[in-house]
Order: sequence, then structure tokens, then C-alpha cells
Amino acid sequence: MTGMIRYDRKVAIITGAGGGLGRAYALMFASRGAKVVVNDLGSSTRGEGQNSRAADQVVDEIRSAGGTAVANYDSVEDGDKIVQTALDNFGRVDILVNNAGILRDRSFARMSDADWDLVQRVHLRGAFMVTRAAFPIMKQQKYGRIIMTASTSGIFGNFGQANYSAAKLGLMGLSNTVAIEGQKYNIHCNTIAPVSGTRLTEGIIVPELFEKFKPELVAPLVLWLCHEDCEDNGGVYEAAGGWYGKFRWECTQGYACQGSCEDHVSPEAVRDNWEKVTDFTDAVHPESGHENLSLLVGALQEVKEKSDIQSIPTSATTSVSGPLSAVGVTLEPRSFSYGAVDLILYALGVGVSTEDENDLKFIYENSEDFSPLPTFGIVPSQASMMDGRLWSNIPGWSPDLTKLLHGEMYLENHKPLPISATLNTEVKVVDVLDKSSGAVLVIETHTKDESGELVLQSQWSLFVVGEGNFDGPRKSTKVVPLCIAPERKPDATESLKTDIDQAALYRLTGDRNPLHIDPAFAAMGGFNQPILHGLCSFAISARIILKHFCNNDASRLKAIKARFSEPVIPGQTLTVDMWKEGSRVFFNSVVKETGKVCLTGGYVDIVDEDSAPTHLQLASSVVFQEISQRLASAPGMAEKVRAVFLWNINKDKKLVTQWTLDLKNGPGLVYEGAPRNGEKPDVTLTLEDDDMVALVTGKINAQKAFISGKLKVSGNVMLTQKLQPLLKPQAKM
Ligand code: NAI
Repeated sequence: MTGMIRYDRKVAIITGAGGGLGRAYALMFASRGAKVVVNDLGSSTRGEGQNSRAADQVVDEIRSAGGTAVANYDSVEDGDKIVQTALDNFGRVDILVNNAGILRDRSFARMSDADWDLVQRVHLRGAFMVTRAAFPIMKQQKYGRIIMTASTSGIFGNFGQANYSAAKLGLMGLSNTVAIEGQKYNIHCNTIAPVSGTRLTEGIIVPELFEKFKPELVAPLVLWLCHEDCEDNGGVYEAAGGWYGKFRWECTQGYACQGSCEDHVSPEAVRDNWEKVTDFTDAVHPESGHENLSLLVGALQEVKEKSDIQSIPTSATTSVSGPLSAVGVTLEPRSFSYGAVDLILYALGVGVSTEDENDLKFIYENSEDFSPLPTFGIVPSQASMMDGRLWSNIPGWSPDLTKLLHGEMYLENHKPLPISATLNTEVKVVDVLDKSSGAVLVIETHTKDESGELVLQSQWSLFVVGEGNFDGPRKSTKVVPLCIAPERKPDATESLKTDIDQAALYRLTGDRNPLHIDPAFAAMGGFNQPILHGLCSFAISARIILKHFCNNDASRLKAIKARFSEPVIPGQTLTVDMWKEGSRVFFNSVVKETGKVCLTGGYVDIVDEDSAPTHLQLASSVVFQEISQRLASAPGMAEKVRAVFLWNINKDKKLVTQWTLDLKNGPGLVYEGAPRNGEKPDVTLTLEDDDMVALVTGKINAQKAFISGKLKVSGNVMLTQKLQPLLKPQAKM
């Protein structure tokens, strides 16, 4: 890198630039082409009073040297006004140096509320207010350089400066997080801890050094950190008298008191190993919270291997680093208890509504056939997967979890889920695939009940963007394959509009990723707004298939698999195309509003259809055939009635089939199943198969059946009167 560092066309805000260090920064930025907002409240070193002179003088200095500058006299607590000054005068903000500061030194015991509060407000809150106002502008222009001014008093502490050191170290924490959140938008945030002879340090720094430590000698560091060529982000730098250095965290190798076996962990064990805990030989320098956690887990892992204690999860390949080190990582079974409320919350989360009486059994615990949705098994499986243990137990790899995408999902039910239970789920990484653009973790879970019987299993394919090219396998026989739907037109298609609050509700079932509710977080991931959980669209598709091909009987959904190909926004409509072949229903789900396929290669395997009673085994099917024939010989019937009727036919109180009589759309139609195209029935009648026959043969009276509870009718009951011609006693049965 050669040539003079310049800031032409760049706009810099320097707070507290009316004197001391800020003035030196302002002058140097302006001398190198930047347009500068010189902010200064003009207060005393204790933060008292205000005066426009300080800022004006620096602006005059800049202008008389041929530079461009404008003054702002607001307190940094009014950060938006300072940023507005930049926008009004120069139209943008590229650089922000949070520099304004005061001192109110007092020994800790004598520190007053005012001394504490004012120092926090000027330093920490002030930097927050100006940065928060500038950040969205920088984000939009995908460029920004921010400096936070800390102090060695914050890093090491200093007598009489409890207020100041707390604020200064707070600024470092603020900077670290702004750096992480800004990285994606080319916004860098670094911290400096300067030492300089200014009015603030008069009488504190010895006179010889006071003269030598000129503010102009700190400025070069600030200028370089704020240049577009500087890649550093999230660092902490010292500067004094022309010397510059970088700070980092250091941690001892530490000592693990025999892994996580609690018997070996005690205050005595810590005391007896204190030398090892505090020995900086071979110290480590973690650069992120992730790295720190990995080092810690690695240390525990090492001890575990030595002592062969089985209490922490193991990796089959501890010597391997990178994504492959995840293969074989197994997490001890973790228990998960649920009851009716959890089932109902899940059902509401995937769009079940009281609008459809047939779905009441998923959201009303007093329903006769109250049951979990067949995809509820995702919840206990997810609880074990997402409790944080997985990532901390991969010894040689700590991927950036903000780059994690859910690729594919497979769920297989081995037995019907009880309405309340305690289940134990074991998690294992069975393979890791190298897809060049990322790594795919193939993770299996096995969920057992308290008797140890397998209730369900699942397979999650998690895609970690940017972690590919590690010489891993591209394919795996362990992955449950997707299925391509037949080429013919779908056998059935149904749409369901999700609610605007669908994700807000669904997240309560366990996946609290802010991506699904927090617009700012979603924006960081490149989304215009929070997106719906893929597993919510997955479950909605399963519900639609359950209705169409399983009479809404949850126990008949054996397995489901699909790939997540596009995000769905809460409030959008899912359209599910379905093809049935044997006991497999192929499906693809499309976002109706955009036409984009959000679930691809999907299929649902249905439990042995022959074992379930079919319409051929049901006496009532003959009744509906008869109704169909009568309808054919009663032209104009539909015209007179204009309504849709739905019969729920039960066997031993369990729904076994549904029949629809559609007298609203066209000349009239009788067919098995729920009303097509999402049409809502005007009347729903629910009764046992035998009672349906008894009713139409006149063996029981409709009114008596209704009063005794044998016949349940909802909707516009009066419309049933109009069915007399179709329902009058069928003598031949
Ligand atoms: P300074 O007192 O010369 O400059 C600070 C400026 O901030 C003053 O012009 C003051 O009017 C302004 N200011 C105070 N409150 C304000 C507010 N609410 N809004 C806007 N402006 C306000 O002090 P110096 O030494 O130049 O300090 C600059 C920064 O460097 C401060 O944050 C200080 O804590 C920090 N620092 C300085 C060290 C040094 O050795 N001089 C050591 C470590 C940190």
C-alpha cells in the first residue's frame, strides 16, 4: 500500500472536537480532504456550562487552512442532531469519532450520584446516541468507520475514577458489538485508549511527558483506523507520543477440575490448583466469544479423554479440525416434558384455527379425540438440538452461527405421540458434507419415551454458508433422499394463508431465533423483514396433506421429508400441490404471492391405508352414493339451497372419513373428503357411521339424535331443513 492517505468526498463527525484530541483529529481529517462536523458543547472539564466558541474556533482554523468544516454545539446526548448537521451540510456520514469526554474524579466511597451519572451520560450514552443515529446511514451506504474512545483507566482501573473507568470499559464493549453487527455492511468500529497532554490531563501527566504527548501524535492512529483501506474491526489500540500498539485479551491455559464430573469440582480443588489456573505459560488469545468457548470446551474435552469420564458429550474424531471434526459428535439424551398446553400452542403456531371444527381436536384439550399434530415431534427433537451443546462440543470447529441455514428436514413417527409425556432425545452428527459454498451437517435425533421405546426420529440438514472446501465428501448415503413429484397435474392443491403473527406465535414452541421476529436482526441476515420458520411452513404443508389424504387423522402420518428452498414471510399464503401414489403423497409448497417454491422434493408417507377403515367398509358410504343419485335426479336443488354441507363420519368416536355435499358451486356435487379449494362448510354434521345409516333409514329421529348428542350440528342448522328431498328415509337400505 503506497501513496498519501486521503479522505476526499468523506464526511467525518468528531465529537468534542473543540479542543484537545478532538481538535487534532478534526484538523488532520480536514487537511486530508474530509468534510468535518466539529461538534463541541463547550463545557468545562467537569461537564458544566456550554459555549459555542470552542467548536467555532476549530472550524475557523480548518477553513482558513482551506478545508471544509461546520460547527455543531449540541451535547452528544442529542446524537441525532449532530448527525443531522452532517446530513444537512454534506449529505452523508462516513466517519464518526466518539471523543467528547469529561472527568468528575472522586474516590469511590465519596462518589455522588451526579458524578456517576453525568460521566456515564457523556461518555457511554453520548457515544451510543451519536452512533445509533449514524449507523443506519452507514448501513445504507455500506460503508462506515467508527471510533470509540476508551482509556487505560477503563482497562486497568484508576484511583478516583470508578465512574470514568466503568464508562470507558463500557465503550469498549459497545465497540466490540457494533463491530460484529457492522461487519456485514462494511462498518468497522475500533476502540482507542489514548494518552495525551490536554486540559483533561493537566496536573495528572508529569510536565515533561505532557509536552511530548501531543494530541497531534494520537491523530495518525485514528486517521488510519478510519480509512477505507484499513480492514481492522473490533480492535483496541493504544497511542501516546507517536507510539502505537494493540491490546488483546489473554487467558491462561487454565485448569479443568476433572472435566464436568461434579464430584471433582469443589472450592478446595480450585484452591489446590490455583497456580495452574493462573499460570500464563502458553497463554491463549481468544479473539471472539466463540473462540473463547471453543478453547474452554477443548480443555474440558482433553481432561475427559484422559480421565475417561463419560459425562460430557464426545466426538469420534477429536484429532480432526474443521467441519469434519463434527462427525460422530453425540449429545447425551436430554429430556423434554410436554402437555396439552404445549400441543395447543404448537397447533396454533402452525395455523390451526377454531374456524375449522375438525381441527378443534388439536387445540381443545376436552375434545373427545384430542391429539398432537403429527409434526409435533419436531419440538422435543429441536429442544435437544438447539440447547447450545452441539456447537460447543465440536472440538475443532466453531462456525459462525449467523451463517446457519436449515436445508432439509425429515421426521418419522414410530408410534403415536401421547397427549402428555416426558421424552428423551439423543442427538448425533452422522455426516458432514462439503458443498464448496458451505458445509452441510447431517444430524439425527432419536426420541424415546420413558420406557425406552423409540417414539420418533428426525434428520436435520444444516447448511453453514462459507464453510466448504474442506476436502469432505459431497454426498452421503446417510441422508434421507428427497422425492421428485410425478409430472402430471397435481391430484390436489390447497392454499392456506399464514397469519401476520405466525412466526411470533410459532417461536414460542422453541425456536427463538430473532430472525423470525426482530426486523433489525433479519436485516443483518439480508432479509427485508423477519421470516417464517421453515418448520412452520413444513408443518402447515403436513396439515394440508393430513386433511386431504388421512381424514385429518394424526396417527396416519408416518413420515415427512422436504427441502427448504425459499423463505416465507408471515402473512403470505402457502399453496401445496399434492400427488398421491400408493401410500406416499408427494408435495411441493409454493408462496402464492411470489410464485416461488418454498418447500421442494417433499413427501409424506401415510400409515398402511388398508388398516384404516375406508369408505368401502363404512355403511354410510352407501348413503352418500344414494344422496349423489338423488341429487342427479333433482336439478335445481343447488339453486334453492346455495350451501356447502360437511359430514364428519366417526367410528368409535374417531373420525374415519368426511363427505361433502356442495350445493353452492355449480349444479351440486357429493364427494368424499373435506370441501375443496378451502371452501368453508355452511353446516357441519358429526355422527357415528352407524347412526348416519340409522338416521336416513328412519330408525332414529334426527331431533332425538341431536338432543341425545348422537348428532352434532354446527353452522347454520336451519339449512339442514332444505336437505329433506335428499335425506328422506332411504327405505332400500
Ligand atoms: P478535552 O477536555 O480537551 O476534550 C474534550 C472535549 O469534549 C471538550 O472540548 C468538551 O467541551 C467536549 N465535551 C464535553 N462534554 C460534551 C458533550 N456532552 N457533548 C459534546 N462535547 C462535549 O479532553 P481530551 O483529553 O481531548 O479528551 C478527549 C477524549 O479522550 C475523552 O473522551 C477522554 O476521556 C479521552 N481520553 C483522553 C486521555 C488523555 O490523556 N487526554 C486519556 C484517555 C482517554
